[in-house]
Amino acid sequence: MLELKRGDFPRDFLFGASTSSYQIEGHSFGGAGPTHWDTFAATPGNVVGGQNGAIACDHYNRMDEDLDLLKDGGFDVYRFSTSWARVMPEGRGRVNAEGLDFYDRLVDGLLERGIKPAATLYHWELPAALADLGGWSNRDIASWFAEFTQVVMERIGDRVWSAAPINEFFCVAWMGHFLGHHAPGLRDVRATARAMHHVLLAHGRSIEVMRGLGMENLGAVCNLEYTVPVDGSDAAARAARTYDGFYNRFYLGGLFNRAYPADLMEDLDPHMPEGYRDDMDLIGQKLDWCGINYYTRKIVAPAGGPWPHLETVDGPLGKTQLGWEIYPDGLYHLLKRVHDGYTRDIPLYVTENGMANDDRVSNGAVDDKARIDYLNAHLARVKRACDEKIPVKGYFTWSLLDNYEWNEGYDPRFGIVHVDFKSLKRTPKASYHALAKVLRT
Ligand code: FCB
Repeated sequence: MLELKRGDFPRDFLFGASTSSYQIEGHSFGGAGPTHWDTFAATPGNVVGGQNGAIACDHYNRMDEDLDLLKDGGFDVYRFSTSWARVMPEGRGRVNAEGLDFYDRLVDGLLERGIKPAATLYHWELPAALADLGGWSNRDIASWFAEFTQVVMERIGDRVWSAAPINEFFCVAWMGHFLGHHAPGLRDVRATARAMHHVLLAHGRSIEVMRGLGMENLGAVCNLEYTVPVDGSDAAARAARTYDGFYNRFYLGGLFNRAYPADLMEDLDPHMPEGYRDDMDLIGQKLDWCGINYYTRKIVAPAGGPWPHLETVDGPLGKTQLGWEIYPDGLYHLLKRVHDGYTRDIPLYVTENGMANDDRVSNGAVDDKARIDYLNAHLARVKRACDEKIPVKGYFTWSLLDNYEWNEGYDPRFGIVHVDFKSLKRTPKASYHALAKVLRT
């Protein structure tokens, strides 16, 4: 059972669920072009089982059923993303009318059900044609992304409740270009530094385009991790500061202070694109809200080798199916830190929070008690922030559906609704029913 009621949160507090295009839609339908995730998954060793998003949850063909789940669950708002390669198969120029129609129907379908549409323009599936040109390491991506923004928002921008250009700058840049765990699978510090800057530059250009269209309620979505040093040594403190620098402070600094953290730039500067400081006003232009995606904390230890001279170590607390340590206090601390240190008075949203769990259907039901506990613990920290007058205005659970969890394939189940990936049947889990009970009253 969920312990909190709607009445425990401010009157204007919204409850939502999040998904993303490539993870649920089924990319082989409707004239979508190839993406760098298709390429990445087709290369041995990158994705568990070599799985890709060709069918995923078949949301493209089952949209109405899924929107009904949102409505029946009592959700106020739905956070979805628009696939660049579905709308513009080559990333530039030609528009796939069927793709644009799909998002148009999605937005209308939400409004008809009384649900606010929260759009994210980019959640990671870069058109392969743009990856060929260097993708995020090429400065031109800011202009390509501005064109995509214009095409999508000219069509749906009049009806979406909120919009954010890019999901999780850190993952786009670092997971894709430094760790090589995500597409395009590079391990290259120069490409990483460029991607870190260009992803923010693209954000800035996209915001500019949307303002030009007269849109309001525009924000940014950052994934943040609560970072702690492994012990009391100076070396551990330095390592944790570096991790916090490239994970959290780089993006928050760019977006809200118009500057990257000086300590981090001592190491990163040689790899940055020329003249990057001239872009900071564009990057740091006014936003209406900031979204925080929160999953876990990281314990950081010093290590040898080239920069960043650190490694992360296993924590002692309970773990999810993916081995992510469950640390609800981190969510409260990050909300407070972002508010006090960066965003000041603009609203904050928890735009993603949830856990992977090895959920099974038994007699037509899924008993995901662990997820209900996770929700209770994290919502209690959100409430604490609200009680302290930090302007948190909403909470989105990740995710509505079990889906394609990127390099981890289909095994990790993050949904409040179970998806059988053979029959594609949806089965609401106990967590869905628990949420619905609270949200519908
Ligand atoms: C976030 C991503 C989302 C999903 C969750 C588990 O980093 O935004 O697509 O993979 O993690």
